Amino acid sequence: MSTAQKNDRIDSVSPALHRFRGLFHTLRARLIVSVALVHVVLMGMFTWEAVDRQSQELRQELIHQADSLASLMVVATTNALLAEDLASLAEVTRRVNALDDVAYGEIVDIRGYVMASTRDGRVGQKLARMRTHRDRFPLPKGDSVLDFVEAVRVGDQEAGYVMLGLSTRNLDQELAASRNQGALYIALALIIGSFVAWLLSLAVTRNLQELTVAADRIAGGDLNVRVKVRGQDETSMLARAFNSMVLSLQHSAQAIEKEHRKRTDAERLACVGEMAASIAHEIRNPLAALINAMKLLGSPGLAEDDHQEVVQIVNSESYRLQRILNEFLAFARLPEAVLTAADVTELITQTIQQVKRDPACRENIRIETRFEDVTPCLFDRDQMRQVLLNLMMNALQAISASGHLTLQVKRQGELVVVSLVDDGCGIKASLKDEVTMPFVTARKGGTGLGLSVVQRILVQHGTTLNISSEEGVGTEVSFELMIAP
Ligand SMILES: Nc1ncnc2c1ncn2[C@@H]1O[C@H](COP(=O)(O)OP(=O)(O)O)[C@@H](O)[C@H]1O
Ligand SMILES: [Mg+2]
Repeated sequence: MSTAQKNDRIDSVSPALHRFRGLFHTLRARLIVSVALVHVVLMGMFTWEAVDRQSQELRQELIHQADSLASLMVVATTNALLAEDLASLAEVTRRVNALDDVAYGEIVDIRGYVMASTRDGRVGQKLARMRTHRDRFPLPKGDSVLDFVEAVRVGDQEAGYVMLGLSTRNLDQELAASRNQGALYIALALIIGSFVAWLLSLAVTRNLQELTVAADRIAGGDLNVRVKVRGQDETSMLARAFNSMVLSLQHSAQAIEKEHRKRTDAERLACVGEMAASIAHEIRNPLAALINAMKLLGSPGLAEDDHQEVVQIVNSESYRLQRILNEFLAFARLPEAVLTAADVTELITQTIQQVKRDPACRENIRIETRFEDVTPCLFDRDQMRQVLLNLMMNALQAISASGHLTLQVKRQGELVVVSLVDDGCGIKASLKDEVTMPFVTARKGGTGLGLSVVQRILVQHGTTLNISSEEGVGTEVSFELMIAP
């Protein structure tokens, strides 16, 4: 057989074998098979033992019967044998033959000639060899007659022999009947055993099935589930232990939930407190500057030059206040992004105009744009404006005297990359990993919320902010936008 043929055969056999083996994977099947097997083996041993004992007894009885009959024949034939009275001898064999279980009766004289026989054509024949033995069980195969030979003695002399054959048919029939009955008992034991095992398995597996379903529900998060406790057996004890385990699990879950709620409440309160303190702190300086400026504006002797300077202060501090409040607002209540298709370069140009109006944008800072791609992208216009504004303001604030800020838009595969490169002071190495966290700032007068808001907005757009910066050299921040379909 070729390897391919062999494999084919294995393939067709193994699923059936697999299914057959699968039957015994369940506890119920194993229980039924084991109990039924124990029943069958015990019942088989018992039946075998009983039939064997019965067979021994019946055989002994048959041998005993043959012995008695042979002795009787000897007594009845001695005189007739001596007198060579063939009619009497024939009568003896005939009578013996009429008895139950007797297959034949024969009388042989001392020379081996058959003098009387119930078997046809035997009278007058000379037996080649005289049987001197008695048959014993087991008989040779195919033989169902037990042969006996008994010598007829007159004093010390043998005068002839009586031969007797007993049929074992009745004995065999009786044993066969016993064997059949035994087989019936075995079959009954198999049926009753399997039924009892099935009932037993029902009691065990019903509880186990309930436990499995309950465990699945607990795994799905339902801790209110309980299993029914029936009776006092081991599976009921397991069910009871399971219920108390679920109860303590429920208590632990409630305690954890309570603790978690307490902690998040505390964290929220701490955050609110930190924010309130930060707002107060950030607003205090521009507000104080505004109040002082207003006082100066109201004083009568203010020179024209000074007047201009004070108006300038009012202007820049108002912008500063507005920026701070915008950042707080965006941080506290960031609405869900609504993505629409638009040209990001156009928004960048608009935002640059807005930034240029801000007093923080000094004249000696050059803002350049390099737009290599104008494909419409998906973004929330207001939120993206806030992102660009925050990033640009950071860059401008990082440039101390003079410098450059370049805004780039380029295509990268299925994405558009927006990047802002400045040659400002760079981000402090110690801050690099945490600049996008709220309230992290290295700037005097900073809120530490700008990049945190940027990051949250970008996450809503399915992207994040990449920052690469070197102290004293500059910073590049970039993010990707999806192209509109
Ligand atoms: N382009 C940049 N160049 C140098 N440092 C920057 C730049 N952008 C951000 N930073 C640093 O990151 C910090 C956090 O920025 P941000 O979250 O906007 O808060 P804030 O501007 O209020 O300080 C800034 O204080 C600054 O130290
Ligand atoms: Mg900022």
